[in-house]
Amino acid sequence: MRITETADLWYKNAIVYCIDPETFLDSDGDGIGDLNGLAQRVDYLAEIGVTCLWLMPFYPSPRRDNGYDIADMYGVDPRYGNHGDFVELVRIAHDRGLRVIIDLVINHTSDQHPWFRKARASKDNPYRDFYVWRSDTPPDTSEESMFPDSENGIWTHDEKTGEWYLHHFLHTQPDLNTANPQVRDAIAKTMGFWLQLGVDGFRVDAVPFAINQTTFEGHDKNELEEPHDYLRSLRAFLARRSSGNGAAIMLGEVNLPHEEQLTFFGGSDGDQLTMQFDFYTNQKTFLALARQDAAPLIEALNSRPKDIGVEPQYANFLRNHDELTLDLLPEDEQNEVLDTFGPEEEHRFAGRGLRRRLPPMFDGDPRRLKMAYSLLFALPGTPVLFYGEEIGMGENLEVDGREAVRTPMQWTDEKNGGFSSAAPSKLARQVTEGPYGPAHVNAADCRRNKDSLLHHITRLAKRYRESPELGWGDYAVLDQPNPSVLAHHVTWKDRSMVLLHNLGAEPVVVPLTLEEEEPGTQLVDLMSEESCELDQDSSTDSQLDGYGYRWLRIKRADDPRLV
Ligand code: GLC
Repeated sequence: MRITETADLWYKNAIVYCIDPETFLDSDGDGIGDLNGLAQRVDYLAEIGVTCLWLMPFYPSPRRDNGYDIADMYGVDPRYGNHGDFVELVRIAHDRGLRVIIDLVINHTSDQHPWFRKARASKDNPYRDFYVWRSDTPPDTSEESMFPDSENGIWTHDEKTGEWYLHHFLHTQPDLNTANPQVRDAIAKTMGFWLQLGVDGFRVDAVPFAINQTTFEGHDKNELEEPHDYLRSLRAFLARRSSGNGAAIMLGEVNLPHEEQLTFFGGSDGDQLTMQFDFYTNQKTFLALARQDAAPLIEALNSRPKDIGVEPQYANFLRNHDELTLDLLPEDEQNEVLDTFGPEEEHRFAGRGLRRRLPPMFDGDPRRLKMAYSLLFALPGTPVLFYGEEIGMGENLEVDGREAVRTPMQWTDEKNGGFSSAAPSKLARQVTEGPYGPAHVNAADCRRNKDSLLHHITRLAKRYRESPELGWGDYAVLDQPNPSVLAHHVTWKDRSMVLLHNLGAEPVVVPLTLEEEEPGTQLVDLMSEESCELDQDSSTDSQLDGYGYRWLRIKRADDPRLV
């Protein structure tokens, strides 16, 4: 393995930053964020050390589901700009060394999409089979809906043709029939289109639903031997279309336990999704944070499949644009997290998660926040940030549902947090008020304050990039006696690090023995530049403050890096 490989499989030590174009920066004063605004802030993101932008849906859409209900997969919603603006943005990002991935929704469209309008026009319309229909009355499917608050089930009766269509999400988001080769071709074509405009890959939405059995059942005429063949074919298409342009990726949303995720990587062949968000570790991390006990996190890391090959990669995250879902945890564990971090009914979403950002969950404790972000960058895999996390934005509980965490980016302490010059009543979404509002939390202030979360995250990003062993290496959890501590070791080629995180509020001493290392080896703390030395038994005691963390690089004589 060579350091040059980190440029080929670039995503393995990327720093991904998710942006909702609607709420990032409004450049024309209409109250809605846009692509031109976003382009103005690429330098800000480059300065933090972000290496890959993930753009949430910017396609034309009635926006019943924040743009995940797409009415034209080739389009740019005119409220955000046009294709020219999109190309300019991609060029600016590339010039600053950032790649760009975009959301690809293969499970459903909006009911306003021309395909669905035609499909529902008559039973024999050529587009009928683009969606999934049944003629018999469906059973009770209320348990299967992803939005049980607003939907009774996953089938909706269509008055005109008298049949029911499938939708795992809102009834305005009919599920595509991905068993239909014409649908597959149409989706591949949209991928080809955006690749041609320069994107470096896709965040693939709701993957398990898109290849789920309900979609395939009843469509024997389209004979699909194995649903995962579909993912394989998309990956192969991507490889063909992006060769010469640097490998493009598919980062899949697969909210399933680890052993099931293995199938979505393509098992040991690794020929399906390039990356997957690690939802299981995310949920266990929140349990560990709630208990101030690292055991659940250790269990999650140890349960990751070990034999996924070199190319597949896990993406780690703390918060994202959705609710913090806890659905992979047993009910008692879900309740522990809900009680600790979302004690009020207004903090919760659909009974299964939290519509909160991280700082208010921690009562704003800066030590705990800094430790949590250190952990995010230190976990084996690729870190993903949601916009505003780097400055410590909070949620706005006045806003309905999941929109609570999707409020405008807070740039300054000026009107509308510097997001837009429009009248506040015209804004795409209300700006957060109170202690997490722009008067107290904004990017401009953070840039001036060396102790800010922004500076901390910038430093983490820098250290992460200097330490490819974090994204590439093998890892092992180290034994030590403090329940509140995660101690792990990563190693890649001849590079190794030990990472210590104290999830608890009390200071601790962590005894470490690194048998493989020579006595006298130096351990350099990349976060403080202090170093210590292994004694005769290759041991040392490391002090950690309450919510303390250390990134100890094992300094070897032949390590070409500067410390
Ligand atoms: C994904 C998105 C979510 C959306 C859903 C349906 O889970 O993250 O925001 O509502 O897919 O597209």
